Amino acid sequence: MASESPKLPPLPLLRALGMFRDALAALHRRLVPGHIALLEMQMTGFLAQAIPAAAQLGIADALAEGPRQPEDLARAIGADEDALRRLMRLLVSFDIFRERRDGSYELNSISQALRSEAPVTLRDLFLFFGSGYHRTHWTHLADAVRTGQPVGPAVDGASFFEYTAEHRDIGDLFDNAMTSISTLSVDPLLAAYDFGRFGTLVDLGGGQGSLLVDILRRTEAARGIVFDLPEVVKELSAHFEQVGLGDRLSVEAGSFFEAVPGGGDAYILKHIVHDWSDAEAERILRTVRAAMKPDATLLVIEIVIPKHGRPHPGKFIDLEMLINTTGRERSETDFGNLLARAGFALTRVVSTAAPDCVLEARPIR
Ligand SMILES: C[S@@+](CC[C@H](N)C(=O)[O-])C[C@H]1O[C@@H](n2cnc3c(N)ncnc32)[C@H](O)[C@@H]1O
Repeated sequence: MASESPKLPPLPLLRALGMFRDALAALHRRLVPGHIALLEMQMTGFLAQAIPAAAQLGIADALAEGPRQPEDLARAIGADEDALRRLMRLLVSFDIFRERRDGSYELNSISQALRSEAPVTLRDLFLFFGSGYHRTHWTHLADAVRTGQPVGPAVDGASFFEYTAEHRDIGDLFDNAMTSISTLSVDPLLAAYDFGRFGTLVDLGGGQGSLLVDILRRTEAARGIVFDLPEVVKELSAHFEQVGLGDRLSVEAGSFFEAVPGGGDAYILKHIVHDWSDAEAERILRTVRAAMKPDATLLVIEIVIPKHGRPHPGKFIDLEMLINTTGRERSETDFGNLLARAGFALTRVVSTAAPDCVLEARPIR
């Protein structure tokens, strides 16, 4: 079984393939009757639960050692054989898993990403997306559009981060999902941006620290500090003792609305700014700026909403932000303005083969 990360195609090729796919899909939508196009798009919502179901059932892990006949697979994962065949028929029709001539199922390059031990694993992300908590929130999208407010306070009596801090089953699901999504972006980030040139990197809201672990393992960067809320980093020091980076990696607890560790050469905010409104994000950025040396660098890692009107992952995640947070996805102009208000100059925007960009900024003196 392959244990190396899938090779990344060059960025221009990825972009060209994406444009070709979008053009074909747009042509198809225009040629079929409108109601058919609409129905087809809505039906993919079922697929969005079929994929998490495969993750919940552990199908990809059960196929990790090789192909299995349906009855054997059903027994291994504790499922009804007929129902499993029906789920697999849909998934196979979308090239998620392969059905062999002898009727057995096997992994392909797409379903590899559903394995828990794959180098790029999205299993935990899909467990979160398929959870009752996440699905319930999405049923309130219309409310969020009416009010412009996240749905957590009305549905759970708490904001997203208050709720996940209090209910650690959901909090763990979310933290694991974030670690899972990091496996998707780490290779593209390291290929596109030289993190190794910094002495000390501070990852603010760094969750379980997987980004810094990967950076420190694969670059010359000297030291890393993971900073997050106390309940998130509670057991992280013990975990870090196992990862073999010694005192190159440490943990600090706190809130980035109050104070962050000083002395870093680069401060990373990955998928943080998009969680917050402009006013809140400005407060975070000002706190970071106050802790920064004049020559330190700020690295905001986020999706940047492009100018074109074609589909883009940022347009989906933006609605996720609307439902669950006070935040939003932003364009390059939005980021430039926000950073300027907090006392930073946006110096560079580096695209990667993942949806994320690295927005590099420096404090204005
Ligand atoms: C969307 S996750 C991103 C995690 C990680 N940076 C990544 O990219 O995988 C947001 C993170 O911000 C953290 N967070 C939320 N409020 C915080 C606060 N006030 N201070 C520090 N961290 C906070 C959460 O615990 C969570 O780990």
